[in-house]
Amino acid sequence: MCRRAKADGAPATAIPHPDYLPLRQIQQSTLWAARRGLEIMDYAFPGKESFRRQIAQRMATLGVPVSPDDVLATNGAQEAIILALRAVTQPGDIVAVETPSFPGILQALEVVGLQVIEIPTHPSDGLSLEGLQLALDKWPLKACVVVTNHSNPMGARMPDERKQQLVSMLAAAGVPLIEDDIYGDLYHTGDRPKPAKAFDRTDNVIYCSSFSKTISAGLRLGWMLPGRYMAAARQHKYFANLATSSISQLAVAHFLEQGSYDRYLRSARQHYRESCERMRAAITRSFPEGTAVSRPQGGFVLWVQLPDNISGTGVFQKARAENINVSPGLMFSTTNKYDNCLRLNSANPWTERIEQAVARLGALAHAERDGST
Ligand SMILES: Cc1ncc(COP(=O)(O)O)c(C=O)c1O
Repeated sequence: MCRRAKADGAPATAIPHPDYLPLRQIQQSTLWAARRGLEIMDYAFPGKESFRRQIAQRMATLGVPVSPDDVLATNGAQEAIILALRAVTQPGDIVAVETPSFPGILQALEVVGLQVIEIPTHPSDGLSLEGLQLALDKWPLKACVVVTNHSNPMGARMPDERKQQLVSMLAAAGVPLIEDDIYGDLYHTGDRPKPAKAFDRTDNVIYCSSFSKTISAGLRLGWMLPGRYMAAARQHKYFANLATSSISQLAVAHFLEQGSYDRYLRSARQHYRESCERMRAAITRSFPEGTAVSRPQGGFVLWVQLPDNISGTGVFQKARAENINVSPGLMFSTTNKYDNCLRLNSANPWTERIEQAVARLGALAHAERDGST
């Protein structure tokens, strides 16, 4: 069923523990940027040249040959998604998203006044193309938003053939794909997965990403490749907030130029691979029988599906009262799905406190099943 996007307003933070972030290098790059004097004093619209050049170079290595002029700097991926939605839709239009879906995408749809169709997602293959085809046949979709690599909360990564199919299905239907690739750099093994944009032959994919999961969420720095929608995206950006922070762009451009980002990513990927595995094992040890845990191929969030008769919302509420932070499954849909689910952020150094928190969550889930605490 298609319904007006209405999302839970609770914060949906999935950010790594500061120990895993390149704080010292970013401090150095920010000091370097601060010394640029007048260069940080102006509005950097549509983005600092040095930042857009670095992004264009990185995109080329992913099979997306673009020039700096094709890049629009944004205040994170969240703004990029909102600008993309504004560029391709009118209020009241219907947009397809995966389900379960990152709550920020549902909130973006709500802010832009759109209706949402939720398409099932497979834990490893990502968005169901069969489900998408049914939606395309039935509804006049105006866009489709997909986190193609290591989605939040499932951790799914679409295989290349499915990305290719997704791109061609949407191109044939004349429906723009808004791709969110924010977790793409955080693959656990193998090579950097390609974005769907690498298979785009008709300029129908608007690529969105940011450094929130890798460098710092607080810098509020992302980017988009709006392609043929550049004029509309630029206009919406300009009307919304004129430009993205100059000092953030210069600092990150400097960090990237130094080659520090790739060095840092190598250790971050290993941390998140290990932290996911450790937390999965702890969940398996302490949660009730019948609990399923995602096995992400990248990123650091875990999606926990409790047996149907256990309310994840109940576990979430009791855990919150004990200062244990998890996200309730209900946040990840506009329908009342996923009450039996929880999302956990594994990107924390493994301490006794974390181990006890996971064990306590397991105990709360047992108690929720037994109807008592
Ligand atoms: C899938 C996904 N997209 C977008 C965002 C928002 O990122 P940003 O901080 O770059 O706006 C998040 C943050 O949790 C996310 O998980």
